[in-house]
Amino acid sequence: MALSSAESSLSFATLTPESKVAQTHLASLVAKHRSDAVGSPMDLVVATRHLTNIISSDDHDPASRSKYTIIFTFGRKGHGRDSEWIVGKLNSDKHGKPIDMPISSSRSRCIKGRKLFEVFIHPKSGVLMIRNANANHSLWYLNADNQGDHVELRNQERYVLHMSTNLLRIGSLDYALRYSIESTRAFLASRKVYMQRQLGDWDVPSCFAIQPRHDHIRLRHVILHSVIAKGGTCVVRAGVDRKTGNPIACKTMQCSRGNIEAAVNEISIASVIAAHALSGLVPLLFKSCGHGHPLPCSQAELEDMHLVMPYAPFTFDTAPWQEIRPSVKLALFRHALEGLKNLHAAGIMHRDIDPSNLLVFSLQPAAAAIGDFGMAKVGSQGVEKSLGSLAYQAPEVATRETYTEAIDIFSMALSILATFEGCIWSGPLSDHEHYSALLNYLTRLETRMPAGLATVLRAMLSWDPSHRPSAEDVLTDAVWEQIAEPDSVRTSDRQSDRQSSEKSSSMQQPDDDLPLPGSDAGDGLDRRLRSPIPEALPRSSSPNSNTSSADDLDQRMKRSHAPPPSSVGNDDADSTAEVHGRDDMSERMNRSEAPSPASAANGET
Ligand SMILES: Nc1ncnc2c1ncn2[C@@H]1O[C@H](COP(=O)(O)OP(=O)(O)O)[C@@H](O)[C@H]1O
Ligand SMILES: [Mg+2]
Ligand SMILES: [Zn+2]
Repeated sequence: MALSSAESSLSFATLTPESKVAQTHLASLVAKHRSDAVGSPMDLVVATRHLTNIISSDDHDPASRSKYTIIFTFGRKGHGRDSEWIVGKLNSDKHGKPIDMPISSSRSRCIKGRKLFEVFIHPKSGVLMIRNANANHSLWYLNADNQGDHVELRNQERYVLHMSTNLLRIGSLDYALRYSIESTRAFLASRKVYMQRQLGDWDVPSCFAIQPRHDHIRLRHVILHSVIAKGGTCVVRAGVDRKTGNPIACKTMQCSRGNIEAAVNEISIASVIAAHALSGLVPLLFKSCGHGHPLPCSQAELEDMHLVMPYAPFTFDTAPWQEIRPSVKLALFRHALEGLKNLHAAGIMHRDIDPSNLLVFSLQPAAAAIGDFGMAKVGSQGVEKSLGSLAYQAPEVATRETYTEAIDIFSMALSILATFEGCIWSGPLSDHEHYSALLNYLTRLETRMPAGLATVLRAMLSWDPSHRPSAEDVLTDAVWEQIAEPDSVRTSDRQSDRQSSEKSSSMQQPDDDLPLPGSDAGDGLDRRLRSPIPEALPRSSSPNSNTSSADDLDQRMKRSHAPPPSSVGNDDADSTAEVHGRDDMSERMNRSEAPSPASAANGET
């Protein structure tokens, strides 16, 4: 039996033995086990010469090229716990746990243990990942780190397959896993069907790339895919954490002499928030300069500064409010207000609260947070008049000499109001005519709001700032009692949730480095709106906790006796935009010294 044409059209990657040992084992497997049944894993082993789409390792000596290649296809469901495709030795009997991609016969001694690794789609970002499934051998992902270092994956450790050609080594076996997506549209459709079978209505935002591209930027352990927003002096990109596959967003501030102070202010405020892990405020995962150095960088005065945070699929501007249950809406509003309470308690005014700066991380469970600290200021009084968007600005910014943090309360009320029918007013609301029209509008909307909310908003919209409740006051209102408690997850429960979900399913991998506010109420929404779902904020986490796994790995890289991976090159190192911790010169040196791909095939003897 051969791979059906339908199955072959759903293929997206190939796995080709690169070392002689790996080639010999696969060839002798083929000689012994001709495929006998429909859907046999042996169908996935095909003669390399039949593959038109395989990107051959260019100057490979044809004699050293593998005769056979293994195909990954959505046409076959993987037998991993979460439908991962398992690569390993062919089953000897019908009762053993099936292997999806066979690399040798079951009796082969090529490696200790039966499984090598698993390949899977990340449920939140959709990227292709690999996981070591062998308890006896480390899996080496060659040249996969920014400086061309090798990455060691121990049993169950995973990594994003972030190069077009991914060179893998386990024991004496070397493979190249290559992307072979021919049609983006077909790939997206079949990936969706595949994931929906396991997770219900599944989708991921299109800002996450389906395969590596030359214009992806590597910034420490994250890879930046595409631009999702552009401001005057900043650009926000979506990307993934290479170690977890979790979606992240990176705000890059292009610093010039004119705006360096503003950038430094934003970074320092974001850092204070990260250091205290304040709930309801967007957490900073890490910050870095254009060289990949933690800030401040001593090498350059003016350069790009990157703020990396968890990815939010929506803002208050773009969330599908019409489809969201009232209880979930209230839960999202409460998160934003908690953020404001914490910000004000830390002695910081935000000064630019508007729907585009209120990020929604998840609808089930509800998770929202305040972002964009570009206008924020430490202190309790402000005088600057030119702040954020006028439609959301409190009247006293224009009408009085000074203002207080109460301007944030006013703007928050307007941002909440706009989730019902959009922003139908124009600002500023500093003249009485506009202002009373707005209050009338609020009254008209009252029946469509959860009971009691309009009253809370009216108080927050008091003309006189001293009459407005504080965020803390607002949070004691009875209106929040309508948040469905059965669905609600208390923050204190989140830690045990994380542990149990980790045990129960690797598909539900907690976002190790996505600290987020506690979450509330579920909803009746489809999966599309639910995913991606960041996890709760580990309250005790230190500001650096998210980098510890990175450091661990780096440490291990230094300590461990790497397989002395033989010199193997990759096609991406030279072309992918890289941002990392060496200066340009040494970077260039490293590149020119990178071993050539040709040596890959002969690396093993
Ligand atoms: N963590 C994130 N996840 C997803 N999108 C984000 C994230 N942070 C910012 N954005 C998007 O980028 C836009 C601009 O980011 P922001 O920090 O508000 O910068 P600006 O100073 O230009 O307003 C936001 O309105 C939002 O649409
Ligand atoms: Mg903004
Ligand atoms: Zn720098």
